Amino acid sequence: MTSAPDAPLGDGGHELTVTGLRAGVAGREVLTGIDLTVRSGEVHAIMGPNGSGKSTLSHVLMGKPGYEVLGGSVRLDGVELLGLPTWRRARLGLFLAPQYPTEVPGVRLQEALAEALAGRRDPAAPVALAAAVAAAAAEAERVGLGAPLLERALNVDLSGGERKRSETLQLGVLRPAIAVLDELDSGLDVDGLRAVARRVRAGVDEWGLGVLAITHYARLLKELRPDKVHVLVRGRIVASGGPDLANQLERTGYARSADADPADGDAGDGGADGSGHSASDEPFPR
Ligand SMILES: Nc1ncnc2c1ncn2[C@@H]1O[C@H](COP(=O)(O)OP(=O)(O)OP(=O)(O)O)[C@@H](O)[C@H]1O
Ligand SMILES: [Mg+2]
Repeated sequence: MTSAPDAPLGDGGHELTVTGLRAGVAGREVLTGIDLTVRSGEVHAIMGPNGSGKSTLSHVLMGKPGYEVLGGSVRLDGVELLGLPTWRRARLGLFLAPQYPTEVPGVRLQEALAEALAGRRDPAAPVALAAAVAAAAAEAERVGLGAPLLERALNVDLSGGERKRSETLQLGVLRPAIAVLDELDSGLDVDGLRAVARRVRAGVDEWGLGVLAITHYARLLKELRPDKVHVLVRGRIVASGGPDLANQLERTGYARSADADPADGDAGDGGADGSGHSASDEPFPR
């Protein structure tokens, strides 16, 4: 992507460290103690039942208003993010592609990207809108997004799959240090899924992007090639393992993971992924 403005953050060597994170929303504790570290060049996947807290984790990491942090820390390169506004987290190199991207009437994608790039830089070296437009056009081609969509207001009237392609385009232009991708695969057709997954994976290889990918399906992970897969159940990581864990979960569901107690074993490596057992007949207890 030669037309993209150079990125101060895409230089590798970054680390997102989540320690003992507890958080709630609407008066209820949803995250009950998350420990996780994502480094540059690593791909981590998070899987887990509906309502287990995956999107909540993504929102708390990015600082969405309305979520209450009850304990723990989230550091990016040693800087505590909790308490910082979202724009400062973004400026430090964190990126979120939300499960449900928000419509922003009146703000065109190209302009939003130009502002985001400018906000990250030395004011003495402003980013020209033309440079952002060129970068967005190159990225649009990579993710199969029609050029006219770049003229639209952010996410307004975009289909579900177009939104996910647009989020991936934004990631490609902004070149963040660490990207949290919440169900980037949802709503995408098979070609779109392959295109966005390959774009993300290329970011890992091109500038050492670190990825935290939330998904329900192993098919995304075939392209993303995660280093680690974590299982989030009832607000905590109950098992972590290699890529095979995703395939195992697709076969067995979450019943065994729901029973797993991270205190019983190593929730960082191995955990339930090594069990190899079939799922319990018990349904997942909610
Ligand atoms: N703003 C909110 N107000 C009330 N409850 C909320 C709010 N946001 C999340 N919750 C609740 O918190 C729990 C966790 O939700 P979350 O969206 O994090 O789940 P998830 O793991 O992302 O699920 P899915 O796989 O369906 O996307 C759910 O029970 C949800 O209803
Ligand atoms: Mg979710």
